[in-house]
Amino acid sequence: MKNGKLQAAVIGCGSISKVHIIAIQTLADVEIAAVCDIKPDRAQAAAEATGAKAYGDWHEVVALPEIDVVHICLPHYLHAPVAIEALGNGKNVLTEKPMATTVADARKMIEASEKEGAGTLGVIFQNRYNAAVQKALEIVKSGEMGEFKGARAEVSWTRSRSYYVDSGWRGSKLTEGAGSLINQAIHTLDLLSYIGGPIEKVRGAVFTGLLENDIEVEDNAMGVAIYEGGQRAVIHTTNNYVADAPVEVELQMEKGVLKLYGNNLFKVEKDSFELIARGENKSVVGKAYWGSSHGTQIEDYYSCIRRGEKFWIDGRSGLPALALVCAIVQSSEEKRWVTLEKA
Ligand SMILES: NC(=O)c1ccc[n+]([C@@H]2O[C@H](COP(=O)([O-])OP(=O)(O)OC[C@H]3O[C@@H](n4cnc5c(N)ncnc54)[C@H](O)[C@@H]3O)[C@@H](O)[C@H]2O)c1
Repeated sequence: MKNGKLQAAVIGCGSISKVHIIAIQTLADVEIAAVCDIKPDRAQAAAEATGAKAYGDWHEVVALPEIDVVHICLPHYLHAPVAIEALGNGKNVLTEKPMATTVADARKMIEASEKEGAGTLGVIFQNRYNAAVQKALEIVKSGEMGEFKGARAEVSWTRSRSYYVDSGWRGSKLTEGAGSLINQAIHTLDLLSYIGGPIEKVRGAVFTGLLENDIEVEDNAMGVAIYEGGQRAVIHTTNNYVADAPVEVELQMEKGVLKLYGNNLFKVEKDSFELIARGENKSVVGKAYWGSSHGTQIEDYYSCIRRGEKFWIDGRSGLPALALVCAIVQSSEEKRWVTLEKA
C-alpha cells in the first residue's frame, strides 16, 4: 500500500497482460508498481504504458515489500511456483487460468493459500460473470424449469501452427500442460460444474489432428462425464475448425432446454425459442473470444481484498475444471473411466 493505493505487480507481459493492465487502470485506488517479463522489450513496453518499474526476475518481484497483489499472466507451468512463492510472502495472487498444469500442483497452491499469513488466491474464470451464464445459473438453481438433466458443451475454435510454435511454450506437455482442453475449453468445462454441480468421473479420448507434426498436446478432445448427481455431460473441443465459432453449452432441463450460445442465452420450450439474456456490449480489449468480463472479475477481486474477504473463485473453486481436463487426458491414455481428483 502506498499513498492509500494498493500496489499491483503484473508478471508476464504478453497478450493477456494488456487486459489485466487496462482493468487495473480503471480502479481508482490501485497502482501498478511493477511489471515483469523475461523478454526485456516486453517488460519495458509494459513499464512505459503503466509508469511501473520493469523487472526480469519474478522471484525479485514477489519479494518486493511494497507489492500487495501479484497478477500471474505467465505460461501455464509457471502459475504454481510463482503463486506459491508469492502467497508464502503474504501477497494476494490473481492467477490466469488454468491455475496449474497438474492437480498435484493445484493442491500445493490451495495449501499455500490456506496457510496463516497467506494472501488471497483468485483464479481467472471471467466467463462466470457473463450475464447469460448468471441467468442460466439462476434458472437452474431456482427450479423454474424443473430439474437439470444433463449438458452438452462444444468448443470449435481454430489455432494455427504459429500460435503454438512462435509462443515458445504452447504445444508442449511440460509448459502448456495439455492443449485445447487446458487452454481453450477450460472456461467451458468450468461452466459445466459451476452450473450443473460437481462431476464425478469421465471417459475421454484426445488426439492431435492437423498439427500432429508440430505439437505434443491434443488439439481435439471428447468426453462423456457423469455428475455426482447422476446427470450426464458430453464434451467436444477442437482447435482444428476454420473459425472461432461461438461456444455452445446446452442444458437439458425437465421443462425445456437452455442454450448458451456465445454470450447469449436462449430458452427453448416446445416451439418457442426465446433470447432471455444478451451478452453485454462493453468494449472488449484483446480477442473477442476472451469475452468482456475480465474487468468485472478483476474489480470484484480487488473489492474482496479491500474488505479483507476471501475471494469466491479461489483455489478450491478453480480446481474442478483442471481436474476434468486432467481426467479426460488420463482416461484417453488409459482407456478407462477416471474419477476426478479433489482438493
Ligand atoms: N482468461 C482468458 O480468456 C485468457 C486469454 C488468453 C490467455 N490466457 C492465459 O494467460 C496466460 C498467459 O497467456 P498469454 O496468451 O498472455 O501468453 P504470452 O506468451 O503472450 O505471454 C506470456 C509472457 O510470459 C513471459 N514469460 C515467460 N516465462 C517467464 C518468466 N520466467 N518470467 C517472466 N516472464 C516470463 C513471456 O515472455 C511472455 O511475454 C496463460 O495462462 C493463458 O492461458 C487467458
